Amino acid sequence: MDSKARITAQGAYIPSTVLTNEDLEKIVDTDDEWIVSRTGIKERRISEKNEQTSDLAYRAVIDLTNKYGSNIKDVDFIIVCTLTPDFKTPSVSSYIQYKLGIENAGAIDINAACAGFTYGLYLANSLITSGVNKKILVIGTENLSKITDYTDRTTCILFGDGAGACLVEKDEENPSFISVINGSNGSKGKNLYASNIGSILDGSPIDKNGLIKQNGREVYKWAVSTLPKKIKELSESCDLNIRDIDWFIPHSANLRMLESICERADIDKNKLLTSIRKTGNTSSASIPLSINLATQENKLINNQKIMLFGFGGGLAYSGLIINWNLDKKVN
Ligand code: COA
Repeated sequence: MDSKARITAQGAYIPSTVLTNEDLEKIVDTDDEWIVSRTGIKERRISEKNEQTSDLAYRAVIDLTNKYGSNIKDVDFIIVCTLTPDFKTPSVSSYIQYKLGIENAGAIDINAACAGFTYGLYLANSLITSGVNKKILVIGTENLSKITDYTDRTTCILFGDGAGACLVEKDEENPSFISVINGSNGSKGKNLYASNIGSILDGSPIDKNGLIKQNGREVYKWAVSTLPKKIKELSESCDLNIRDIDWFIPHSANLRMLESICERADIDKNKLLTSIRKTGNTSSASIPLSINLATQENKLINNQKIMLFGFGGGLAYSGLIINWNLDKKVN
């Protein structure tokens, strides 16, 4: 019999330092009204100078174990989704394995930018349903403030730091994963990049300073024209009417953009859950941060159908429909 997988627990962590729109007004030529009306963001969290991506990830997992009492010592695979790893090597996942005292676990970092967390969940489900693994930690963690250009008002208003984690376990009776869609439009990749060792992107020289560079208008156009179709394909692939989805949790990129996607995909805006207002765009951490917020607000109830949809750098996307069925919280 095929194995099945369930998301059993979740946790999150955000740094304590708050960067408000008013703070940004002192750094670049912008104002609160412009930022809120264009993006929905009021503030974001910024890590300390020496606070690394792995530190954020570690704290998110500790939050998970504190809340759900989950035993993670027998986790057999760790997937860290990040575009801001501490180092090219060692991986964040290997460090996390060591820091959490997990003895026997495979450990990989994956980078699908803002689609990272949903790709990570998809991989975890695939590894469990293949029969190879039984218990997997999926962590989305980002230190975007360390690669944000605070002289560029078109990007520095968007990004923040944070981490979120889910535990995915073998469960034949109550599987979480209903349907998936993955894809990529690599020809548009040059519209959103942060440089590494390459100096030419799709034939053109790029800024080599390692900071995020974005053509916001192009990314916006791509998102509102491509994603509604993909959202429909995802719900149709499991014969689910989009109106039967209880909650829509997309990557928190920009509230105005997400509302436009909802309109085009026929999703009731009251079903939209985001972490955009208080934590901004945290890339692969934004979906687990939204999950955490919605859990704190008692919005997510077991047996609800939830659509998660990650999208961004690549330009890549990954959507999932899941049945929400977490363990009971102990704290
Ligand atoms: N404060 C005030 N004015 C600003 C500004 C800021 N922070 N940033 C840009 N502007 C100005 C521009 O200079 C421009 O002025 P001009 O008309 O005099 O030239 C004007 O506002 C409009 O600029 P534009 O770039 O067209 O703004 P926009 O409406 O597209 O909003 C983004 C910019 C970045 C908010 C928007 O494009 C966006 O969110 N795109 C998607 C980005 C995203 O989500 N990326 C992550 C995907 S994972």
